[in-house]
Amino acid sequence: MKTKIFMGLALTAIAIQFIPYGKDHTNPPIISEPTWDSPRTKELFDNACSDCHSHQTKYPWYSNIAPISWLLARDVEEGREHFNVHAWGAQKKNEGKEAAKEVREGEMPLWFYLPTHPEARLSETQKQELIDGLEKTFGKEKTEKEEK
Ligand code: HEC
Repeated sequence: MKTKIFMGLALTAIAIQFIPYGKDHTNPPIISEPTWDSPRTKELFDNACSDCHSHQTKYPWYSNIAPISWLLARDVEEGREHFNVHAWGAQKKNEGKEAAKEVREGEMPLWFYLPTHPEARLSETQKQELIDGLEKTFGKEKTEKEEK
């Protein structure tokens, strides 16, 4: 019985590798870029955000293995859909104004990205640098207080 279950799982694990979704790792061409306030902001962004919010996604080796490949493809798709620095001004929905807030509140980068991407783990100083740079580059979302 146990062997049968194991064989079944092993065969499923192999079979799902043939599903094409998530296999295409070609980056779309860069359409347009924002004017970064400083090279430092861009550098921090490249380290912590650009895998999901640009057309310069670096795909790690495990991004070829289903089902990781599916989850990863979905994050990149959704990430670009919300905020894409390589379709800046060209893509209608582009929530750059929220970027600083997302970092300040610890929402971005997504937590599960960090264990495999040490370069995206920002110190408090780097985090503040990125927040300031994002605000200068993309503007600032009004806090509730300011809206009143
Ligand atoms: C592992 C992929 C990944 C990384 C890395 C990442 N993001 Fe995101 N980001 C997403 C996804 C997926 C969404 C859309 C769904 C959501 O909001 O969770 C998103 C949404 C956003 C949004 C839109 C706001 C919203 O909630 O809709 C902003 C702004 C943003 N991210 C900024 C950043 C910044 C700045 C960084 C780097 C500090 C970053 N992200 C790193 C995947 C990522």
